[in-house]
Amino acid sequence: MKREKPKLIILCLMIFILSFSLAYAENGKKIYDKKCASCHGKDGKGNSAMVKMLKVDASLLDLLDKATLDKSDEELISIISKGMNKMPAYGKELKDEEIKGIITHIRSLSK
Ligand code: HEC
Repeated sequence: MKREKPKLIILCLMIFILSFSLAYAENGKKIYDKKCASCHGKDGKGNSAMVKMLKVDASLLDLLDKATLDKSDEELISIISKGMNKMPAYGKELKDEEIKGIITHIRSLSK
């Protein structure tokens, strides 16, 4: 019986980690819809009213284009936390894990 214990602990840890990552992915959608969708659109293709207001090229607000999806998670985390031109910086209000969850959500929108 004693031998079963380590397995059980590993199983519990795996469930724990899995539920955490799922929670962050779920959170990623919530945060995206709240903070990012106004400019980038709920579907990630960009909000055309914002394109006019910000006077930017529509492709800049489109997060489902190759230019965005081909970037690594590290590059995207850096852009989202530090900001870029008219893109606000979110490093102060969002943790890296939350930004990762948002990126998971953006990548899932492209499928
Ligand atoms: C006020 C409007 C606005 C909001 C809100 C906003 N963004 Fe942006 N975002 C922009 C603009 C404008 C750019 C283009 C910046 C540039 O390249 O000049 C951009 C660029 C990006 C890029 C880079 C795309 C690429 O191809 O390099 C990512 C990723 C991104 N935004 C993610 C997010 C996320 C995630 C959020 C929410 C946490 C968010 N944005 C909120 C306006 C916004």
